[in-house]
Amino acid sequence: MTEMFKIQFTIYSDMVEKFLEELPWGEDVLSQSMRYSLVGGGKRIRPVLALACCEVVGGNSGEIVRFASALELIHTYSLIHDDLPAMDNDDYRRGKLSNHKVFGEGKAILAGDALLTYAFELLAGESKLPPELRLRVIREVALAAGPTGMVGGQVLDLEGEGKKLDLSEIEQIHQAKTGAMLIVSARMGAILGKGTEQEIEQLTRYAKAIGLAFQIKDDILDIEGDSATLGKPAQSDLRQEKSTYPSLLGLEGAKTHLNRQIAEAKEAVKIFGMRAEFLSCLADYIALRQH
Ligand code: IPE
Ligand code: IPE
Ligand code: MG
Ligand code: MG
Ligand code: MG
Repeated sequence: MTEMFKIQFTIYSDMVEKFLEELPWGEDVLSQSMRYSLVGGGKRIRPVLALACCEVVGGNSGEIVRFASALELIHTYSLIHDDLPAMDNDDYRRGKLSNHKVFGEGKAILAGDALLTYAFELLAGESKLPPELRLRVIREVALAAGPTGMVGGQVLDLEGEGKKLDLSEIEQIHQAKTGAMLIVSARMGAILGKGTEQEIEQLTRYAKAIGLAFQIKDDILDIEGDSATLGKPAQSDLRQEKSTYPSLLGLEGAKTHLNRQIAEAKEAVKIFGMRAEFLSCLADYIALRQH
């Protein structure tokens, strides 16, 4: 990872942070609850990936900030619901109390619902970008977030609690609950940046690899990390008896799989030559991150 990468990552995540802060928030309790979880926390990987993929195909990232930020609304909703007592039952998120610990379970559920719906309002709003590209993206985001993507994966994750799943079953859960949203982030950037079908395909291959890597690393950090650095409870997977790469293969086995995915991701973006530098560093960042 280079200094250049860190600077560029901050530029991208600041674009998203600014957009989120400047949304027309009200003073009502629903706005407060949505804002509490959304603004000023989180690494912003999904929108950063979208902005980077837009630029790598020659698009203007400034034109897609609203679309990229919508991904963060969906992701934040998934985290609010993921932490509920009925799901992973975690009391901390992004270095502070989970949404339901502050606003209560009812309002946490509704803040999640509102963030999901608001995301589609942002995606469907007025824009200079071609309507056919936006429609393609809206449909893909719906598919990635919904029953065949993230939500479907979360159901499999819950159903896998207390069971010993095999590697292909765990990979299927990871690809659905985490991979799908990362893949659509990359594809959104490439589609709205007017990339060619071949470029979109290569970025999909890249994102499929980093998506799996991202959840394997999350599962490793759940064991190796500490709650203060993670900003969320460590050892949560053990407590909930989740099936993870480390639970099946051990830490070393999980790290071997992680590194294989990182290599695959870097291979996939070679077609972009020098311009692939940021995406290549982003793959390393996913493997090396400490939170
Ligand atoms: C956590 O996602 C949930 C997973 C899919 C593993 P992130 O690690 O991207 O969480 P934030 O957005 O930075 O808080
Ligand atoms: C959650 O996976 C994936 C989501 C879709 C939210 P985890 O349950 O492992 O995420 P963390 O560890 O709570 O962030
Ligand atoms: Mg979970
Ligand atoms: Mg969780
Ligand atoms: Mg986890």
